[in-house]
Amino acid sequence: MPLTGREVRLETYPRGEVRATNFRIVEVPVWEPGPGEVVVRNTWTSVDPGLRLRLRETGPAGYFAAFPLNAAMDGIMTVGEVVESRAEGFSIGDTVWHALGWRDYAVVEADQPALGGLGTLTRLDTDLASPQSYLGPLGGMGLTAYAGLFHAAELRHGDVVWVSAAAGAVGSLAAQFAHIRGHRVIGSAGSDEKLSYLLDELGLDAAFNYKAGPVAGLLREAAPDGIDVYFDNVGGDHLEAALGALRTWGRVALCGAISEYESTGPTPGPSNLFQATANNLTLRGFRGSSYVHRMADMQRDVGGWLRDGRLRYHESIVAGLERAPEALMKLLSGETIGKTLVRIA
Ligand SMILES: NC(=O)c1ccc[n+]([C@@H]2O[C@H](COP(=O)([O-])OP(=O)(O)OC[C@H]3O[C@@H](n4cnc5c(N)ncnc54)[C@H](OP(=O)(O)O)[C@@H]3O)[C@@H](O)[C@H]2O)c1
Repeated sequence: MPLTGREVRLETYPRGEVRATNFRIVEVPVWEPGPGEVVVRNTWTSVDPGLRLRLRETGPAGYFAAFPLNAAMDGIMTVGEVVESRAEGFSIGDTVWHALGWRDYAVVEADQPALGGLGTLTRLDTDLASPQSYLGPLGGMGLTAYAGLFHAAELRHGDVVWVSAAAGAVGSLAAQFAHIRGHRVIGSAGSDEKLSYLLDELGLDAAFNYKAGPVAGLLREAAPDGIDVYFDNVGGDHLEAALGALRTWGRVALCGAISEYESTGPTPGPSNLFQATANNLTLRGFRGSSYVHRMADMQRDVGGWLRDGRLRYHESIVAGLERAPEALMKLLSGETIGKTLVRIA
């Protein structure tokens, strides 16, 4: 009896907020693997804000491609177990990551680059960490936080650091990396529950709820002497507040701009961009996937911090492939803490 499995397909592009009705779950046959291919039974799949940028007819130029309608959604990080292999170096039972998520089974070509190299089929060491942690701190999330803080922002001795969306997957790692390195770290997030998480569990030096008032004022209260580094996950009013608080030679790692992802029209730029000139600031965009060559360094450092208990890591798990769209909706509306994952099997 041939194998079949479910996959999530995009049926219509959302306008504004994502809805479950934009997607459909279909049952499809699983193809026999050809030479150099493996069949993977996916067990965990990632849910990322960046997916929202690809749920459009045309995504941002230079970014990962938009998802086509009525087709499997390729280019989403996933881990799973090899159930059939015709590829050298991969055996039945291996735990791997690859980029054909949001489906039960994937036929994956070994050595085929995916997601800028981040999602190329790779065997994972599950003696070191759980499979799903390779979708979080030991994978793309860890690499993004690591690249943003240490490379884009060039973290320096004594820097005061602000991280926005600090209770999320990337933000909670970036904030803790800076804290572990001895920096004063301010985190911001959108609920009191998240503030408790930042202060009581992650041990950050200060935190504020950006919904409690104008961000610039809240940041000034948390960092009366200003900041040196801003790790930007949000854009919009947060970036504007950072520009007003950055001290001379300060740096911004432009990681993401989630406040803009569901907007239906143009979003305003910061009104105070001249502060970058006035204070010799550097604003640098970056992609985690452009730092795949630093993955081993990141896994060594972050793996060590996890093992010695200095790094905390939270997962928000939604059970069932059919609930992947719901998990994305929860993530975008701020209902999740830490890394948002779908457990498939
Ligand atoms: N450059 C890269 O390579 C790269 C890679 C991965 C992710 N990213 C970016 O990094 C950012 C965080 O991604 P993640 O995967 O770690 O997601 P996440 O932080 O786990 O989830 C997103 C969070 O953003 C917050 N948020 C949503 N709308 C907001 C708004 N209007 N204003 C302020 N905060 C808002 C929500 O938390 P609150 O409750 O605090 O509002 C939500 O929990 C995103 O911008 C993403 O696109 C970039």
